[in-house]
Amino acid sequence: MEIRSDIDRYPVLVDTGVLNRVGEHAHKHLPRDTCVIIADSNVAPLFADRVKKSLVSAGFRPTLITIPAGEKSKTLEQVGAICDQMIAAGLDRQSFVVGLGGGMIGDISGFVAAIYHRGIPHIQIPTTLLAMVDSSIGGKTGVDTLDGKNLIGAFHQPSLVIDDLDVLKTLPRRQFNQGFAEIIKHAVIADAKMFEKVARASWPAAAGETHALLSLIKRNIQIKSGIVAKDKRDRTGQRALLNFGHTVGHAVERAGNYRKFLHGEAVSLGIVAACAISVKRAGLPTDQGATIVDLLERFGLPTRLPPKFPRKKILDALKFDKKFETGKVRFIVTPRIGVAYVADNVTLADIRDAVKSL
Ligand SMILES: NC(=O)c1ccc[n+]([C@@H]2O[C@H](COP(=O)([O-])OP(=O)(O)OC[C@H]3O[C@@H](n4cnc5c(N)ncnc54)[C@H](O)[C@@H]3O)[C@@H](O)[C@H]2O)c1
Ligand SMILES: [Zn+2]
Repeated sequence: MEIRSDIDRYPVLVDTGVLNRVGEHAHKHLPRDTCVIIADSNVAPLFADRVKKSLVSAGFRPTLITIPAGEKSKTLEQVGAICDQMIAAGLDRQSFVVGLGGGMIGDISGFVAAIYHRGIPHIQIPTTLLAMVDSSIGGKTGVDTLDGKNLIGAFHQPSLVIDDLDVLKTLPRRQFNQGFAEIIKHAVIADAKMFEKVARASWPAAAGETHALLSLIKRNIQIKSGIVAKDKRDRTGQRALLNFGHTVGHAVERAGNYRKFLHGEAVSLGIVAACAISVKRAGLPTDQGATIVDLLERFGLPTRLPPKFPRKKILDALKFDKKFETGKVRFIVTPRIGVAYVADNVTLADIRDAVKSL
């Protein structure tokens, strides 16, 4: 089945078994000859062959580039190395990039696509739940620097996104669960009904139940692309709603040296902090705040910091958050599940208090 997002109208296919039909779909949208598949060292051995075969049988000439798995590969140096290999393989302006992997691969392959010959098409094939419901949608691409995450990048919308639910079968449980931090975020900021749905199902047990997962992923893509469509370049403040839980979340991630917590786990803690602040500053009923925290816990996501975790490091890291650049605190709050807005009455002290009580 095909969902069309409002912006740039790129098709998003969400189904089972679509990996074998990548070539056929690429052919429909990109009448070109050559392409590169960029994957990481965990994903390439699992799925690259299938994607390659499908591309070859549709008449494409794919080159596979594999980079080491992990966030540490998301660098400019790696971008340079990939581009060099693409040049050596004879890829040109008529080629396209296929990013096969989680958010790390989606971001770096998208950035390569954005700059190679000043921009060639990008196909996203997300292989983590987080990448399916979040990073593959919206066109933000980029790499990290020593000073912080995603500081260098470009907006480059994909030409096609292909979600094959079958790939989630090999995804470790912890990785699967972190996707739910973003799903719960989407529910809290935009969809009370979806929140109910996620809360009612016994998800970890039902992870293999394709149908429920299929409709959940589609709904999350709709929510994210709907918000992005209103603010494609992150300028008007609409897109900022997607940062719910991320102000503190990013600081937690940084304080844990990007090793202690996965992104979704840090966001889970950030959501807990954002709920406490929302109770105080936006009138979020306490019981609704507790319901959100409960739901995060049901996915094994952290809602309290480990007792000895250096909270000071989180407070120090807060100032690196892009939202503090202008010195003003713009914080995303929720007055009730399903609604969010950018508040201007949240103080740094509120955030500090929330972090201290995590
Ligand atoms: N562009 C955006 O809008 C956006 C939004 C959110 C996050 N991100 C970025 O996404 C990244 C995090 O994404 P992620 O959690 O998917 O990270 P990831 O790509 O590093 O994947 C997590 C791990 O799972 C492995 N893996 C991936 N798919 C697998 C599969 N099907 N089976 C087994 N193992 C598999 C990977 O090799 C990796 O070890 C960060 O770099 C973050 O900055 C970007
Ligand atoms: Zn996130």
